[in-house]
Amino acid sequence: MTHTELLAALRAAVGERQCLTDPDLRASYETDWTRRWSGVALAVVRPGSTDEVAAVLRACSAAGVGVVPQGGNTGLVGGSVPRAGEVVLSTTRLAEMEAVDAEAGEVTVGAGAALAATQAAARAAGWDVGVDLGARDTATIGGMVATNAGGVNVMRHGPMRHQLLGFEAVLAGGTVLRRLPGMPKDNTGYDLGGLLTGSEGTLAVITRVRLRLVPPLAQRAVAVIGFENASAAVAAAGRLRREVASVLALELFTDAGLDLVMRHAGVSAPFAVHSPVYLLVEAGSDAADPSDELLAALEELDPGAAAVLASDPGGRHRLWQLRERHTEAINAEGVPHKLDVSVPVTRYAELVEGAPDAVRNVSPEARTIVYGHVGDGNVHVSVLGPPPDDEAVDDAVLELVLELGGSVSAEHGIGVAKVGWLVRDRGEASVAAMRALKAAWDPAGILNPGVLFGS
Ligand code: FAD
Ligand code: MLT
Ligand code: ZN
Repeated sequence: MTHTELLAALRAAVGERQCLTDPDLRASYETDWTRRWSGVALAVVRPGSTDEVAAVLRACSAAGVGVVPQGGNTGLVGGSVPRAGEVVLSTTRLAEMEAVDAEAGEVTVGAGAALAATQAAARAAGWDVGVDLGARDTATIGGMVATNAGGVNVMRHGPMRHQLLGFEAVLAGGTVLRRLPGMPKDNTGYDLGGLLTGSEGTLAVITRVRLRLVPPLAQRAVAVIGFENASAAVAAAGRLRREVASVLALELFTDAGLDLVMRHAGVSAPFAVHSPVYLLVEAGSDAADPSDELLAALEELDPGAAAVLASDPGGRHRLWQLRERHTEAINAEGVPHKLDVSVPVTRYAELVEGAPDAVRNVSPEARTIVYGHVGDGNVHVSVLGPPPDDEAVDDAVLELVLELGGSVSAEHGIGVAKVGWLVRDRGEASVAAMRALKAAWDPAGILNPGVLFGS
């Protein structure tokens, strides 16, 4: 099949208006959120149903042309944008939201439904979504399953993997797999939905998801505390985690990140005292206001520490902005190298303090901003300065992470950014097992070529 024939088949599959070939219309689908990765697509198709997704995949399979599934395009490892003339399959029109099953606490949504829209539907029915993250207005539920997204509440509710009760997905050749609605107990062979979780668009296109919902936490309190160094902040996080049963989120950031956020997001410092390292803690309960419990724990940690606490929605939002707006503030300064990694909690402070040195050794002019979900051992190292294709700083940080016994990807995935590190992290045997799965599910290799395994 020629490209002209393929384009005709794609137009027949999704309709003329949902097959974008004009470069101006394709542009926003061709560059990732960080602007580090971009490529040209043969076309961007926007199917409106599972059948249309199947027709697109059948046509691309017949033509032997790669397909890049794309949700909200908020992914941070370059896996959602084309590299060499693939077809981008945007899921944003697959946003149908079924009624929440308020009795079971479950909902089925189209893969293209945004997290914020799903949260709104869940909350209106007296429930909530277990995963929350800063890109909530744009990130899609399908993309979040495909990346096994984590976010700020993993300590309490686990990552996306723990929310998945059922799925519908289309294989490369157009076959539809469906297990909806899901059931908490369902031991009928391989967990195919689990396999798709974290598969980054390489095994199938997810079209619908059934999510387990969580009880809402109406009473919340957020505190920000200043520390002299990362070790003190990590030790405090450990104590809060043990001693405050209602802890929902534990986040760490430093003065370098706070300066950027204040400059670019127009927010003010949490308190007058400057601190090298900050801890944000959120506690949540469905019954009593957790402020007193949190205040008492903070008092016990260090009665003299610089700290601020808010329990009203406006105050909590202001404090969360200090942490959540790091990503956009860094992006406003340049094109970042983003290293999302995990280490055992006992090595967390070493990584927070060692990452800027590791970067400086290979790129003395680079700026390193470190923050992350300290409750999960997850550090985000963002580096500004080196050109996008210079991987020296990426390699230096990931080398340090492996030395500390960590994982080269905590929650963002491998994408194209870390393909060179998959075998180092997981070992030959595990990657061979992954390749065998890929070959069985997508023998022609048309789904997200280059992602996970490289070319
Ligand atoms: P995309 O970026 O469109 O795609 C991501 C990957 O999934 C690609 O490989 C793509 O091919 C694949 N994919 C997308 N949809 C499908 C589908 N339907 N079927 C098969 N494959 C698919 N991530 C976290 O884990 N935790 C955070 O706290 C967090 N915070 C963020 C904050 C900001 C401001 C930003 C910009 C990003 C953040 N992210 C975070 C990263 C990002 O939001 C997540 O990775 C998210 O899950 C991506 O969803 P998406 O719909 O944008 O997917
Ligand atoms: C976050 O926790 O803010 C995100 O994962 C995004 C980032 O790494 O900047
Ligand atoms: Zn994160």
